[in-house]
Amino acid sequence: MTALGAWLADRARVRRARSMVREDRPAPEGALDLASNDYLGLSRDARVLAAAREALDRFGAGARASRLVVGTTPVHRRLEGELCELTGRESALVFSSGYAANTGLLAALGDPGTLLVTDAHVHASLVDGARLSRSPVTVVGHHDVAAVRAALAGRREPRAVVVVESVYSVLGDAAPLAELAAACREHDALLVVDEAHGLGVAGNGRGAVHAAGLAGDEHVAVTVTLSKALGAQGGAVLGPEALREHLVNTARPFVFDTGLAPAPAAAAAAACRVVAAEPALPAAVHRHARTIAAGCGTEVSAGAVQSLPMPSAAAAAGAAERLRARGVLVGCFRPPSVPDGVSRLRLTARTDLDPDALAAALGAVREVVREAVADAPRQTLRGVRP
Ligand SMILES: Cc1ncc(COP(=O)(O)O)c(C=O)c1O
Repeated sequence: MTALGAWLADRARVRRARSMVREDRPAPEGALDLASNDYLGLSRDARVLAAAREALDRFGAGARASRLVVGTTPVHRRLEGELCELTGRESALVFSSGYAANTGLLAALGDPGTLLVTDAHVHASLVDGARLSRSPVTVVGHHDVAAVRAALAGRREPRAVVVVESVYSVLGDAAPLAELAAACREHDALLVVDEAHGLGVAGNGRGAVHAAGLAGDEHVAVTVTLSKALGAQGGAVLGPEALREHLVNTARPFVFDTGLAPAPAAAAAAACRVVAAEPALPAAVHRHARTIAAGCGTEVSAGAVQSLPMPSAAAAAGAAERLRARGVLVGCFRPPSVPDGVSRLRLTARTDLDPDALAAALGAVREVVREAVADAPRQTLRGVRP
């Protein structure tokens, strides 16, 4: 065996021993989806699909080049306009994914003269962006505004960027945006808010930043993904025009990556129009989120995501597998996706959930979680509500 082969075999053995094996299996057909991020059901909306088909016929299957070469189509421009219209921001720049938008933004903002202050629970794409940025990075406790203030006040760097999510992807809780923005204003810093799970759900679908009255704030920039509530693919950075201009010139995933394909760009633009026109869609998500929270005995979250702490990674993986066998798909999050080390089941509310099917699924969730908690050794129950 080669040295690399031996190392791969050893890594696989360690993953198996720690219940950390992940698999990219297709979801079984007909199962109830309490795992995806298609919160508004727009990935299958007739208007969204028609827009994608039209763009496919008119502009082809791919963007053919970087946005800066010939990869920008009228569809990209329209999408950027729709995103601004929906969120109330001045300008938008579309990337090929939310991951690329986050890494591109933080790497383009960072340098040794810019302190990055990140919440301990931010998404991997923001962590990677911070790593790429060449900035000094201070990680603060989850929602710890006092620690953010202390980091900003005590900094030596002339510039600072605070990085949070509006609705956290695994925990489902909401950042204290008004307080964070006030701290950034006071200390001349930029607040970057990842609205991956806020757009389409919070603030009547216009996002938590809009709802907090921060859409026009020059101290706030927003990143979004087009692949969750908008049901398509891609990502974007929203903020002042000067930021867009900087990113067009310096964000490496924008400059060196092939542009987002026209069909998902057109789909996302159509989805923006649907979200703006139909506040009943996010309202239904919140209704179903309350039902899921009541069914699981958790506090209702800020958006679509309900998070259920589990006794261990093995218990979380086993419970998710048992639910899958019963036709219920839930997310299973284990380290390193959970920075506090607490493995969780993640259930997502969606507009088009059938109430009877949801009630039956929640019965199965309760049963399976009860069994998993009963089986777990007592000392592993950190953070778990039986
Ligand atoms: C908070 C957050 N930010 C960014 C992303 C990345 O978005 P995308 O899937 O479009 O790359 C995700 C999810 O995948 C996410 O949950």
